[in-house]
Amino acid sequence: MTGSRFFPAFLALLLSASLHAAPAPGQQAVATAHPVATEAAHQILDAGGNAFDAAVAAAATLGVVEPYGSGLGGGGFFLLRQAGIQPDYVFIDARETAPGRAHRDLYRDADGQVQRDIALNGPLAAAIPGLPAALVHLAERYGRLPLATSLAPAIEAAEAGFEVTERYRLLGGFRLAAMQRDPETARLFLRENGLPEVGELIRQPELAQTLRAMAAAGRQGFYAGPVGQRLLEVVQAEGGIWEQADFDAYKVIERQPVRFALQSHEVISAPLPSAGGIALAGVLQGQATLPPAERGSVAWTHQLVELMRRVYRDRAVMLGDADFVEVPVARLTSPEYARSLAESVDPDRATPSAELGLPTGFSEGDNTTHFSLIDADGNAVAATLSINLPFGAAFTIPGTGVILNNEMDDFAADPDGRNEYGLAGGEVNAIAPGKRPLSSMTPTMLESAEELAVLGTPGGSRIISMVLLGTLEALAGEPVEKWVSRPRFHHQYLPDRIQIEEGAFDAQLHDALEALGHRVESAGRDYGDMQAVYWNKRDNRLDAASDPRGVGSAGVRRQLMAD
Ligand code: GLY
Repeated sequence: MTGSRFFPAFLALLLSASLHAAPAPGQQAVATAHPVATEAAHQILDAGGNAFDAAVAAAATLGVVEPYGSGLGGGGFFLLRQAGIQPDYVFIDARETAPGRAHRDLYRDADGQVQRDIALNGPLAAAIPGLPAALVHLAERYGRLPLATSLAPAIEAAEAGFEVTERYRLLGGFRLAAMQRDPETARLFLRENGLPEVGELIRQPELAQTLRAMAAAGRQGFYAGPVGQRLLEVVQAEGGIWEQADFDAYKVIERQPVRFALQSHEVISAPLPSAGGIALAGVLQGQATLPPAERGSVAWTHQLVELMRRVYRDRAVMLGDADFVEVPVARLTSPEYARSLAESVDPDRATPSAELGLPTGFSEGDNTTHFSLIDADGNAVAATLSINLPFGAAFTIPGTGVILNNEMDDFAADPDGRNEYGLAGGEVNAIAPGKRPLSSMTPTMLESAEELAVLGTPGGSRIISMVLLGTLEALAGEPVEKWVSRPRFHHQYLPDRIQIEEGAFDAQLHDALEALGHRVESAGRDYGDMQAVYWNKRDNRLDAASDPRGVGSAGVRRQLMAD
C-alpha cells in the first residue's frame, strides 16, 4: 500500500463511498491459524457460501483443531465488510460477559487478596460464552447457507480428530499443571497425564455432538436443552456462578467499528470493548504528524514506542466496556488527540512511564486465534477469537467437549495489580454483572480505492502492537507475507520496557534506543500468529499469508460456483 502522509479525515470520509466500489475479485482468499480450518472455509465458499458462512466454518473449526486458542466456550470479535451494501462495515461483538452473580471482589479472599488460581483455572474463571451466539447470528443475519451446512466441517474435524503439533505441545506446556487437575481436560487433551506426542490424534466426539445440537437447534442447542443444562450443572457443582438467566440474556452486539483516515486509506478496526482500534488511531494518526522517519530506523522505532507507551497508558486509565462506563471515544480517536500525544514525544529521550502518571491498575489476556478471508464478491471477514489463556480455564464440561474460557481475567480483578500479561488496569475495567472485559483483540482492515487489507493476530497484550506493525507494512506497499512475518517489538506502558522478539533489533538499533533511555528486553523467540489477506483492486489480484511462526495456512482459489 502506498500513499502520502496524514490525510484529513473529512476528505477520506468523502472518499469512503468510492473506496468500496470495485468489481468483484472472482476469487477467494483465506488465511487461518490451522490448515483444517482454512480448508473448511474454502469448502464452504466452494459450496456457494459467502464470506460470512465461511467465517462460521472457520471459527467453528478453529475451536476444534486449536483447543488451546478458541472455541464454543469462549468469544471474540468479527469485523465484516459487506460488498456493495450498507452498512459497509459491521463489527460483531461476541465478547463473553460477566455472570449476573459476579461482582468486583469476586476473586478476593477474606484478607482481601486476589486469588490468582481461581481467577485463572476452573469454572469461576469463566465468563458467559459468546461464540455460539455469534455463529448463529452470522449464519442467520449474513450468511447464505444453513448453519448446519457451515458447521459440518467442524463436526467432521471433531469426529475424525486432528494431529498434535509442536505448537499444541508448546501452548499445552504452559498450562500442563492446570490441565492435569481437571480429569475431563486431561482425558481429552493429555496422554497418561502428560502432553501427547506430535502426530497423535485428538478426537472430540462430545464436541461433535454439541456442534450437532447447534446445527439442529441454533442458539438453543448451546444455551438451553441438554447441552445448556449440562454446562450449568457442572459449572455450579464445581464452584462456578453461571445461571440460566445469564445464557438467556447473552446477546452479540453489532457495533460501529473505529474508523479513521490515514494517507489515502481508511483504517477500520475494533471498537470497545477492544482497546485495539482506539490504540491504533492514537499511534497511526499521531505518527503521521511527526517528522517522517525511515522505517526501521532509530527515530521511527522511538516514535512508535513512545506512542505505544501513551496509548497503553490511556488504555489502563480510561478504557472499559462503554456500555457500563463513560469513555471519551470520539476524543481518543480524533486526529487532534493523536497530535497531542505526538507533541508530547521527545525525539531525544524516552519518557519514563512514571512521568506520564501511574494508573490505578487493570487487566486482559490471551491465547486466542485469528483468521482473515475474502470471498469472490468482495465480502470480507477479520475475526479474532479467544478463550484467553491457552486451553482457557483448563476445565472441560464432561459430555459436551466445551472448554471453558478464563476471560474473567481480562477484567481488573485487582485494580491495583496486573493480570497474567503484566497489564495494568483500572476502575473502568472492574468486574460488574453483564459487563464485557476489556480486550486487545484487534481484527482490522485498511481500504483505499485500490486496495483492501485484512489482518489480525492472537497474542494478548501484544496484539495491538503486532497489528500496528503489520498495518505499517501494508501501508508501505510491502507484500502480505511481510506483514505477517516482520520482526516485532512492543511497549505497553508498564512494565516500562521495549519487549522485542529475539533478533528483532540489531546491536546498533538496540544500543541507540538504550542511549535514548529505553530499556530493551527479549520477549522470547516467536510471538503472534498473524493471518492476512489482500485484495489489489487495480489488477483484481488476491493474496494471502499465514504467519510462519504458527502452523496455519493461507491460499487463494478461484471460486467454484463462480465458474
Ligand atoms: N483474551 C485476549 C484478549 O481479549 O485480548
